Amino acid sequence: KRVAILGVPMDLGQGRRGVDMGPSAIRYGRLQETLEALGHQVEDYGDVRVPVVESLRRQGQGLGGMAYLEAIRAACLETLEVLRQMPPGVLPVVLGGDHSIAMGSVAGASRGERTGVVWVDAHADFNTPETSPSGNIHGMPLAHLCGLGDARLVNLGGPGPKVRPEDVVLIGVRSLDRGEVGLLRERGVTVYTMKEVDVLGIPAIAQAVIAKMRGLPRVHLSLDADVLDPEIAPGVGTPVPGGLTYREAHLLMELFSDADLVTSLDLVEVNPILDVANRTARIMVELAGSLLGKRIF
Ligand code: ARG
Ligand code: MN
Ligand code: MN
Ligand code: MN
Repeated sequence: KRVAILGVPMDLGQGRRGVDMGPSAIRYGRLQETLEALGHQVEDYGDVRVPVVESLRRQGQGLGGMAYLEAIRAACLETLEVLRQMPPGVLPVVLGGDHSIAMGSVAGASRGERTGVVWVDAHADFNTPETSPSGNIHGMPLAHLCGLGDARLVNLGGPGPKVRPEDVVLIGVRSLDRGEVGLLRERGVTVYTMKEVDVLGIPAIAQAVIAKMRGLPRVHLSLDADVLDPEIAPGVGTPVPGGLTYREAHLLMELFSDADLVTSLDLVEVNPILDVANRTARIMVELAGSLLGKRIF
């Protein structure tokens, strides 16, 4: 496959410094070499420009707010435009940065075609400005992709929602805000919480997701490092106990790989400042390898 790497050093979507260094940490964790060793042809497009937080005026923090909306919108728009200009058939791997970047990556990778979204995350990121307890936009991207929330983000790169809620699947969820629960139910999003992971197991969930997504022209996998158990992936800004084990996460990627499910990928929320010797970035690189064809035998 032809793979295109794009970094989005974004930390404006949440309150902790360091996640802007995620793209460097993931590259240092040998992403390109790992994918090339699997036979892919890899091109690195460098990083999208994101302003440094100290250069911006603080605004929009807290309940009902949307902190740094304009700067996040601009970076997502640039992400979207870079992705749309990639040659067709290329598989983009977008490196965060916090999860707000997915508004650009999903919209750009979809190229206007119907796109299934597999959101693998401890959180749903399905807040609107009204339901968000924090005003942090990294808790809102999936809602905006589905057409809920602020029009300036919903209509990024073209009017209207980029994704249908019925084409979205969440896996690994274990922390939801009250308003998100109502919105997810109302919109009919498929949610596999950690309880379903424990009861059904990864193979049954992977099989159901693959069946659901079959026939869609595009499938985007958005992988938030905090879906992993914080014991194995400590380098994240919003850790939640009780996450995917090392093998659960790899098995999910391996089964998606067998089905050749995914046409674009995000690796987000790696925060090297909070990490232990780049472990979290390295696991994300390994998972990308499993998703993109690594075979043990
Ligand atoms: N639900 C919380 C919020 O809206 C946390 C979101 C965490 N999101 C993430 N991409 N890590 O603020
Ligand atoms: Mn997330
Ligand atoms: Mn998360
Ligand atoms: Mn378990």
